[in-house]
Amino acid sequence: MTSPLARKRQAAQHFEIIRLNAAEDAQREAAAAIRDYITSARRPVLGLATGRTMLPVYAWLCRWFDQKTLSFRDCTSFNLDEYCGLKGDDPSSFAAYMRRNLFDHVDMASDRFNLPQESCPAAFDDLIEQTGGIGLQLLGIGLNGHIGFNEPGTDQNSRTHLVKLAASTRSANAADFPVGVSVPSHAVTMGIATILDAQRILLLATGAAKAEALRRAFLGPVSADCPASYLQLHSHVTVICDSAAAELLEEPS
Ligand code: GLP
Repeated sequence: MTSPLARKRQAAQHFEIIRLNAAEDAQREAAAAIRDYITSARRPVLGLATGRTMLPVYAWLCRWFDQKTLSFRDCTSFNLDEYCGLKGDDPSSFAAYMRRNLFDHVDMASDRFNLPQESCPAAFDDLIEQTGGIGLQLLGIGLNGHIGFNEPGTDQNSRTHLVKLAASTRSANAADFPVGVSVPSHAVTMGIATILDAQRILLLATGAAKAEALRRAFLGPVSADCPASYLQLHSHVTVICDSAAAELLEEPS
């Protein structure tokens, strides 16, 4: 891992917070953690996330692949979520996002990356289990504290399932769709229990808009009102954030 000067670590319960000044540094740190996992695991199984926060993360991974310091040849991946009603080649789908930003540029076999299917959500959990489980799960966080597309109110024991998206989520993601095309009303997402089954979780958050969600997730009570707060129940969570997103987290003592 890199050692930026501005890094601050805060161990609270079972999670570690790595706070860096700039968003770019946080994104590189997250990419480096993924690289370290891939290079150290015998059969790496990645849980992957989409969203604008992750774009520079994937750019770093592609760069290191180009530089021949990283290979995805032994990797399998499972994405957190996908919109309902979009074909895989729809540019606004998460499948297309993943191809555009990672899979088209690296050496992972095309039958090794998986996204949940709206036609049979439960099959996704079975598939994850058959590969031996997710070793490292990358997560972003929604403004309302969602992880994957698990909106407020999601049960802690949920597995991969269909969801109705919150109005705030649809409006936050509208920029990913062409003008005049509305964000799908439903999606399929790994459930909370699916996410918590991962051996290790890496949550990346940048920007002041995420500060309140991060505060509720890690300093608030464990509650369905903020699905990310369920991460407090996991034994190996690393939060990587920039100083803007960390603004409402307590200073380390
Ligand atoms: C979407 C995804 C989440 C992601 C969130 C934040 O709703 N389903 O997995 O964490 O957006 O995205 P962004 O990074 O664009 O803020």
